[in-house]
Amino acid sequence: MSNMPGYSLPPSGIKKLEGLVDQIVANPGRMIDVKQLADAPSALDIRNVVATLPEGITEEDFVGMLKLAMLTESATDSYAAVFLEGARAYNATWLTRFNEKVWVPDEHTHMVPYQHMLRSLGFTDEELNREIKETKERHYEHCCGVTPIELTVYGTIQEFLTDHWHGLIGSVLKEAAPGAARSANLVKRRETLHTVWYRDMSALQVEANPELIAYVGRSLSTFEMPGTTLVPAYGLHSMRWMQTLNVDFNHIAKELVRNFAETAGSVKRSGMLLVEMAVARGYKIGPFQPAFAQAAMNRLGGPGYGLIGEAILEKVGLPVPRSFEGPQDNATRFYSGVFERIRSKMRSYVAERIDVRAITGDTSVKA
Ligand SMILES: [Fe+2]
Ligand SMILES: [Fe+2]
Repeated sequence: MSNMPGYSLPPSGIKKLEGLVDQIVANPGRMIDVKQLADAPSALDIRNVVATLPEGITEEDFVGMLKLAMLTESATDSYAAVFLEGARAYNATWLTRFNEKVWVPDEHTHMVPYQHMLRSLGFTDEELNREIKETKERHYEHCCGVTPIELTVYGTIQEFLTDHWHGLIGSVLKEAAPGAARSANLVKRRETLHTVWYRDMSALQVEANPELIAYVGRSLSTFEMPGTTLVPAYGLHSMRWMQTLNVDFNHIAKELVRNFAETAGSVKRSGMLLVEMAVARGYKIGPFQPAFAQAAMNRLGGPGYGLIGEAILEKVGLPVPRSFEGPQDNATRFYSGVFERIRSKMRSYVAERIDVRAITGDTSVKA
């Protein structure tokens, strides 16, 4: 994208972000108790799971899934360094505080359950520590820009996808090792919280400066899961494993759209976000080339983007709100009766033709 707006927030927006982080720091929820895990390692014995693996998942695949979780989590300090650098460069003390006080200490606990599980399968500490060390030492190339909005959008997607990953492992463990499944789900719950926090930080920034929606679109378009480069031995198999385990990609796409519709804050801005992403990725919007659609939408303004925002919600099966917060975002107020019927036909027409890959991409999730 060529002409990105500068990153800036009005003091009122910064105050809200500081307030949000105050709340999170005061009430971060229950973190994983690593001592409790160490005291009862038998609960994390997963030897029985091997005999119950779903068809198409070998023991080697299963070990790879666990190692991908453990090693991606072990690289927390690599991501944290990028977050802290960006937060300091833009003087976003709220983001620095969140990272240092809550996020990093929380993330450091996430690999522990997987270390216990892998030990029960016969891996020695020496082997596991060697892989952890290699992962930590690998150069981490950040995919997506370091302004605070790009970082919090990156955080939202990464947390969202790791949330699903821990949940997927939990479902494989559930039958033969319920204690281990509980641990994986404890980690999953932390990632759910992280997703919501980063999403709310993103939403507050966009609310304070709506031009930042362009950064949201760009980060979503360039996002790459760090496991692909930091843990290539396993990360490159993640899509195959998800497909073999029948992951519901449509559900993932729907949840991703729900999160980013909330970040956008209005149906109109959701439409703008989709158009930004379609332009960045080169996917058509309805029958039109994305750049053409963007030019037309910029002339039409609110109602046009509103229609696209509605269409994308319809496409993934989320309810289309009847009325929106601000009058400038209210795309439907121009329509009633017969006009509303025409509009809903147009919406369905556009929805049928939106390529969900504009949102989900080809690699992170598939629709
Ligand atoms: Fe984590
Ligand atoms: Fe997390």
